[in-house]
Formats: sequence, C-alpha cells, structure tokens
Amino acid sequence: MTQTPTQASDHIDAMLHENRVIAPADDFRAQARVTREDYERRYRQSLDDPDTFWSGVAGELHWFTPWTQVLDWQPPHAQWFVGGQTNIAFNALDRNVARGLGGKTAIIWEAEDGEVRTYTYAELLREVKRAANALTALGVQAGDRVTLYLPLTPEAAIAMLACARIGAVHSVVFGGFSVSALADRINDAQSKVLITADAGQRRGSLVNLKANADEAATLTPSLEKILVVCRADCDAPMQEGRDVWWHDALNAASDDHDALPVDSEHPLFVLYTSGSTGKPKGVQHTTGGYMIGTYLTTQTVFDLKDDDIYWCTADVGWITGHSYSVYGPLLNGATVLMYEGAPNHPDWGRFWHLIQKHRVTILYTAPTAIRSFMRQGDAIPAAYDLSSLRLLGSVGEPINPEAWMWYWRTIGGERCPVVDTWWQTETGSIMLTTLPGAHASKPGSAGLPMFGVEPAIMTHKGEELGPDDGGLLVIKRPWPSMLRTIYGDDDRYRKTYWGEIDGVYFAGDGARRDADGYVTVIGRVDDVLNVSGHRLGTMEIESALVAHPSVAEAAVVGKPDDVKGESVVAFVLPQSGHTVDPKELRAHVSREIGALARPDAIYVADALPKTRSGKIMRRFLRQIAAGKDIQGDTSTLEDPGVLDRLAATDPV
Ligand code: WT7
Repeated sequence: MTQTPTQASDHIDAMLHENRVIAPADDFRAQARVTREDYERRYRQSLDDPDTFWSGVAGELHWFTPWTQVLDWQPPHAQWFVGGQTNIAFNALDRNVARGLGGKTAIIWEAEDGEVRTYTYAELLREVKRAANALTALGVQAGDRVTLYLPLTPEAAIAMLACARIGAVHSVVFGGFSVSALADRINDAQSKVLITADAGQRRGSLVNLKANADEAATLTPSLEKILVVCRADCDAPMQEGRDVWWHDALNAASDDHDALPVDSEHPLFVLYTSGSTGKPKGVQHTTGGYMIGTYLTTQTVFDLKDDDIYWCTADVGWITGHSYSVYGPLLNGATVLMYEGAPNHPDWGRFWHLIQKHRVTILYTAPTAIRSFMRQGDAIPAAYDLSSLRLLGSVGEPINPEAWMWYWRTIGGERCPVVDTWWQTETGSIMLTTLPGAHASKPGSAGLPMFGVEPAIMTHKGEELGPDDGGLLVIKRPWPSMLRTIYGDDDRYRKTYWGEIDGVYFAGDGARRDADGYVTVIGRVDDVLNVSGHRLGTMEIESALVAHPSVAEAAVVGKPDDVKGESVVAFVLPQSGHTVDPKELRAHVSREIGALARPDAIYVADALPKTRSGKIMRRFLRQIAAGKDIQGDTSTLEDPGVLDRLAATDPV
C-alpha cells in the first residue's frame, strides 16, 4: 500500500526550501578522479551505448571466461555479462596481490577495547584461502547457503570472501538481531552452515552470540554445522559433531586454494530486509553485476586514491557493510578501517579518535550518527586532529540540511566535499549522489544519477513529473548491481519492484527532482520505517506485538525523531483480562526482532481508528504520535471519537 509523500515532517519542509549550493574546493577538484566533463561524457555514454560503457568497466577486472553479451533483459529479469565467468574474491584479493599490492594494508581493525589487528592483502588472501578450504571440508559446496551471525571483526569479511571464493551464497544476519529473526533467516535460506562467534563487544559488555545461535539451531533443521570464532574466552559450550572452532578449522586447512570460476549470474549473497509485509525479503544479488557496480561506485564516488585510509562505519549486517566496508573498497585495493563497537564508547570522541589515530582520509557514515555527534557539541571533535580527512559521505536516510552543514563544517573543516548517497539493499550500489570533484552539493539533496542509472519521478499511474513536483522515485532501466529476485519468491520480486508501476523499478521512496536534475529523497511511501538508517517493517513489529499474550491488536507508525530520523510508536489494544506492561512488551519486541525495533512510545488504546471495512487509518495514528492536530477526512471512520480518546492518552 502506498501513501503520498506529503506527510512530511518539518525538517523535510526545511529540506525542500533549502537552497544553499556548495561547490567542491579548487584543490579537491584539481586532483579528482572524475571531473564534471568526465561525468557528463561517461554518463551520456552509459545511457546511449551501455554495452561499450559497461564492457570498459568490467574489463578492468579479471574474468576467467569473457562474457558474450553485456545485458540480457527479459523484464523484470536481467542478466549481466552473460556467459562470463569470474570470482569476486579473486578480484578483491588474488588480483590485487598479483598487481603488486600484496604488502599493502587491506584491513586495519580496531575493537571496542582498543585492540588493533591489521592484514595486508597477502595476509588476507591467505586467511580467505584457509577459510575456503575449511568450509569445503565442512561440506559446503557452490550454491549452498551459509549464514553469518558475527560481530564486526575481520573474520566477518574473511568469511564472506571465503564463501564467494567457493561459490557459496552468504546470508549475513546482523549481530543485533534476535534468536527468532536469526532462525527465520536460516530457515528461509535453508542454510547448512552457520558462522558465529562466542561473543561480540558492545558498549563495554559482551553479547553472547553463540547462546543465540544455539537457541536458533533448535529451530533450524537445515543447519548441519556451526563454526565459532573465538572472540572472547573460547569458553562457549560446543556441541560434539556440530560445532567447530573457527581457529581449529582454519589451522587444519591448507593455505593453497584456487578460487572457483563462477558464472556472472551465480548468486553471491542473500541479504534480508524489511518490506511492507510481515516477512523480511531475502534480496538476492549475483556475482558479476554486483562486482562491477560496487567497484565502480567506490572508486568514483569516494574519489579513491592509492594512499587513502577509507572508513565506512556500517556493520556487515547491512548492505552498506557488504558493498562499502568489504567488496567495493577491497576490489579497488584500498586500505579499509573496520571498527567493532559503539560510537560513544568510551565516550563520544571515539570516532574522532579513530580518525586521528589511523589518519582516516574518507569517512562514510549515517545521518543518525551525525545528528548524535552534533548533539554532543563541537568541543568534542575540536579536541582531535581531523586534518587527514578529505572526503565525507552520508547514507541510509535523508540528511537534514542542518546536519549536513554541521558535518561539512565541524568534521570536514569546510575542506572536504560531502557526498550524500541514495541507494538501497536492492540496488546493491550507490544510485544517486554527487561526484565529489565534479558536482556542487545541495545540502539535503542526494543529487544526480550514477553512471547507467536513469531515474524519474512518477505518479502512481506512471506519468512522469516535471521539475519540483513530488512523486514516486523510479528507475527506468536495469543496472548491473540490481537485485535479481527475492530468494524463493520471484512473484514477490515482480510485484514489489516491477508491478507497482508498469515497466519501471519502483523504489518505495517519495522524491522530487529540481531543474538541475538533483533528486531529493523524502522518505518511504510504504509501510516501512527508517529508524537510525535501518529499515523496519511496521507489520513485522505489529506481528511481534500481537504475539504477546497481553496484546489483542496493534498498529505501528513512525514518528519524526531528531536523532534517529524516525522512531517506533505502537498503539496496542489489550487482550481482555490482561494489562499491558510496557517494559515487558518492549523486551518482548527485542526478543522477537532485535533491540532496534523496540517501540519508543506505546499507546494503550481501547480501540484503533478503523474504516467501516476494518482498515486501520495509520495516517491519523501518525498525526497523534507526532502530537499534531488531526487533519484529513475522518468521516470514513467507524468511530471518529476514537481519535480524541487516543489524542488524550499519554504514551507509556
Ligand atoms: C532506504 C533503503 C543503502 C544503504 C543503507 C540503507 C533510505 C538510503 C538515503 C539517502 C534519503 C535514503 C531510502 C531507501 N535512504 N539512503 N541518501 N537519502 N534516503 O539501505 O536498508 O535498504 O534502506 O533507505 O528510504 O529506500 P536500506
């Protein structure tokens, strides 16, 4: 169900009236990889002659067998680099070692407690080869699914690359997700092997991932083996015949391994994300196109140079972590910083300390983090040397102009371009942004299409809208890193993305485009919330709520939040004879989904605003949650009085 993107909050209004334009500094422009002229020429070519354009990019990487056709488009199914055989882990590692980068640092990892480990490209390759052999020894074959439930340690990247190396399909589940979320994802993917750790570090305490894995394993018949990374004290109980320590498996494995050439369309990974129904979707990406998309965008959007120290703060549990903490930068031979831990541990200076200590040059983070830092005041970042930074990026949700300006001024010293990047789990790589040496930025607006991307703003009926008209963001042609299907549910793929408006990819976002072609993304138009840059389906949370014995009915909406972008608000109807205990209900949602889905506010209601046909009018609930006066036609409600009663209720 789609809504019109007009229930915008005040900061969205501010965004739409924002008219500052910030051009890249001359010295940045002079050294940039892509100039304005390059962009214009290459963008044109990418649309007019896509075969030549994409062949040129793909030809920079290694193919065991060349492709015979760049694109085979049987809407809504695309195949890219048809007939080609490659391997993304080979391109990220073996290829870089072969071109002389063996001694270059690939990963600098810092744990929350300050421990630092580094891997050169040669060392990382050796670990990935051993892990590939270890997985093979456990019986994992090409095409098999392997679920990863890991903290943000080098082993997460090693495990992903090892899967890719043998053609196994990884499914990374964020370490903050609950037992049932983990079990659902293992079952949906029918994974044979789970890779987890005895613990992860978060805000000074340890999260027992292995205990969750053990519980999930009782619900997941497909699971045969659990590989366990020792992150804490190697004290986790191990089940004979099922559980194997990662270090034992790797120590027993040879460091000799040839990457398996796989078809360009061989599945690389599945990553679950929320949609407008209760069940998360397994977004399926394949090898060749995803590789080319992440390779090209990392290089051009981040203006990547040999001596950059590149830091994307995203966890590998999200697409940003897949594309821009692991695959994109490693394909480019970059040095990547990885930090496992909270941004405010031991204090709010941690990010700035990391930048100073490791001389980070490129920082890619989320608006919610930027707004949290902003709240702590300028004195904190001012106490650190941030002069190594030369480029800043933002991703995950709309960035309000105020936060954009703060990031640019206080973190970037008005010296570093800020790239606001719009994309999705489904798009695989960045779709809209400004290229830092080519384009001026307009705070609050993501910007222009990346190479090969043809966006438009349309009505529900598929009519294209002109400059400044608000509508639905669509993409008019396939691109290499697009999702190929929803794992096990191609029908849902067709309907969700290509069935909403005929012939175009429907992103689920409301947006407008100005006369210069800059696209401002306003937010989701479906029942998906964006809380701190993470996608949550309202129906998922509602199902979790009604699964609690005290709840008869539930409706979940988002409320604009200064830090998180949106926060979760729940309206619940108690089951007769029960009282709702808000503390218990929040804990229940955490157990069912994960802490990030926990409602900030809960309204205990005696009824929900429904139409005569029984449909809940969330529009009104959003207004109540935001503390606004009720606007709109309430005459279709079965009992209009319910709104006054709800508005007079204090949330708990
Ligand atoms: C949704 C996708 C893609 C990486 C992380 C999120 C929102 C993402 C922006 C941006 C405005 C943005 C959209 C999109 N979004 N980036 N720069 N400006 N909105 O991936 O979890 O798949 O969520 O995040 O609403 O549809 P995701």
